[in-house]
Amino acid sequence: MSVNKDVRRVTTHTLQEMKNKGEKIAMLTAYDYTMAGIVDKAGIDVILVGDSASNVMAGHETTLPITLDQMIYHASSVVRACNRSLVVVDMPFGSYQGNSKEALNSAIRIMKETGGHAVKLEGGEEIIESIKRILTAGIPVMGHLGLTPQSIYKFGTYQVRAKEEEEAERLIHDAKMLADSGCFAIVLEKIPAQLAKRVAESVHVPVIGIGAGNQVDGQVLVLHDMLGITEGFTPRFLRKYANLGEQMTTALEQYVADVRNVDFPNEKEQY
Ligand code: KIV
Repeated sequence: MSVNKDVRRVTTHTLQEMKNKGEKIAMLTAYDYTMAGIVDKAGIDVILVGDSASNVMAGHETTLPITLDQMIYHASSVVRACNRSLVVVDMPFGSYQGNSKEALNSAIRIMKETGGHAVKLEGGEEIIESIKRILTAGIPVMGHLGLTPQSIYKFGTYQVRAKEEEEAERLIHDAKMLADSGCFAIVLEKIPAQLAKRVAESVHVPVIGIGAGNQVDGQVLVLHDMLGITEGFTPRFLRKYANLGEQMTTALEQYVADVRNVDFPNEKEQY
């Protein structure tokens, strides 16, 4: 795929302008070159190379096992396909929680080795030193609050977060801290819609929701979930825009039948 120089790249400034003008931001995940090219051409503003690659690409139960090297492999494939979208790369579990120097080193590796445009980290006040250090190096940071899947063993469940006042207040405090520290956007995952609205009104930076209602500045979904490729994942917030899994199965079954019946290849499909 050649780089189209006429396409204007979405930047962190574009996203801020969109929030200021009340234009909604469309974000999706991608993990490989071919899918990322399709997503980029469709006009998606932000592509997240999510650590959900651990589930979607590698079949792990959680996002914890994916490594920094594996994220770098996915992200560099995605970046090669993108002309327009801003590419944000998830920092995987274990690559930033240790201390801020380790966090900075991991973020620098991501930026150098993938060509991505920003990194995303899960957490609030407890990782603020790391976020500030990464920002000081000139690397844009996206925050992620609410249901943070890297902490699944602390939560014990993937249910809605911050339903109680205490957790809700802490989340608002964390969101303000992330925004004031210089994060260019914040993802809110699986929290009550009213709380997400309060956060979006309380911070100046774009707030992107997944399972957080529509009173925020944009939405993100996992690509394979919204295309109906993954099976058995049906949370209330997930709208399926296609049933590609079924279509693929039908096509594959047809191929098997054609091979068995010596219907493929036919005379026009051979040399
Ligand atoms: O890894 C991921 O896909 C994410 C989104 C769910 C926001 O972090």
